[in-house]
Amino acid sequence: MKRPGINRMLVEGLLLWILVVMVKATTSEDSLPIFLEEPESAVISHHASVTLPCKVLPSSAVVRWKFNGDSVKEGGSKGFSIVGTNLHIANFKHKRKQDSNEGIYQCIAETSVGRVASRPARLSKTVLKRFQSREDLRLNGTIGYSIVLPCQPPISSPEANILFELNGTIISTSSDHYQILSSGNLLIRNLTLNDQGTYRCIAVNPVSNQNRTSSHIISLSVRNYTQEIRHFQYHGEYVNEYPGSDTSQVPPVGSCQLHSTDTPSLQITVRGDSLTNEILKS
Ligand SMILES: *[C@@H]1O[C@H](CO)[C@@H](O)[C@H](O)[C@H]1NC(C)=O
Ligand SMILES: *[C@@H]1O[C@H](CO)[C@@H](O)[C@H](O)[C@H]1NC(C)=O
Ligand SMILES: *[C@@H]1O[C@H](CO)[C@@H](O)[C@H](O)[C@H]1NC(C)=O
Ligand SMILES: *[C@@H]1O[C@H](CO)[C@@H](O)[C@H](O)[C@H]1NC(C)=O
Ligand SMILES: *[C@@H]1O[C@H](CO)[C@@H](O)[C@H](O)[C@H]1NC(C)=O
Repeated sequence: MKRPGINRMLVEGLLLWILVVMVKATTSEDSLPIFLEEPESAVISHHASVTLPCKVLPSSAVVRWKFNGDSVKEGGSKGFSIVGTNLHIANFKHKRKQDSNEGIYQCIAETSVGRVASRPARLSKTVLKRFQSREDLRLNGTIGYSIVLPCQPPISSPEANILFELNGTIISTSSDHYQILSSGNLLIRNLTLNDQGTYRCIAVNPVSNQNRTSSHIISLSVRNYTQEIRHFQYHGEYVNEYPGSDTSQVPPVGSCQLHSTDTPSLQITVRGDSLTNEILKS
């Protein structure tokens, strides 16, 4: 028995398949996705809202998100929503493990040609620990000279900005008089009687704006020492520029060498900050 219908159907089916393949090949919108914008690692404040961007070509690519290796589900205790191709977190949480938003995020883009993952982006919470406790410090300075007031910044993510207050008022470091060194220590140049008072160090987390103030204080007295500096060698944490000061109680961390002859020279290293002759006056 002849069954021309079946042959015809096979031929038609084959033609249709060839047509589809050709259309796909010639229009070929599909290519391996490429990222125009990827999510990036960041430190995020508690309760902040975050949008992780993901822009891909071709625009027909399907975009999904992964959090710690699992597909992101919208809603739920983690509060994810997907807006276009971006991932939005309305309220960044890190307190409880089961709904914490801290972790690794990846954008996954897929076309018929293949699938590409963005580089992993880590979102972590801000941290600002307390200052380590230490003893109050009394320092004597000399009019016209410089002094370094120590500050050991607390653990912070990202790194804290350091400020100092004098008698409870934050000092402005816009003039040459004060300089906050990269270590966090404060350099005061050309001391005057107005520099006397009680200093505290303040650390500010630049992302959360949270701040902490050192519990210990530094009391600075400034005097007019007319005595000439003759020879002074000192290995300790704190720097005094005149003879006779009692430095035996402070633990050695930095070092200071001062020789006064006709041409005084001074070298100081305080926690990696190198200070040079310019701070030695008169
Ligand atoms: C140091 O301070 C005194 C008093 O304020 C001022 O007269 C002098 O010009 C200052 N010296 C330098 C080098 O800034
Ligand atoms: C800070 O307080 C001390 C002690 O009360 C005082 O002698 C000093 O003049 C004050 N300094 C400033 C700049 O207010
Ligand atoms: C530290 O935080 C308190 C409380 O938020 C704020 O009142 C104060 O102005 C902050 N201080 C600094 C130096 O940012
Ligand atoms: C410091 O003492 C010297 C010598 O007595 C004097 O010449 C100088 O004017 C004094 N400086 C200040 C700022 O009082
Ligand atoms: C500062 O000067 C005062 C008075 O001259 C003295 O009693 C004290 O021991 C000095 N402090 C230091 C740390 O040298």
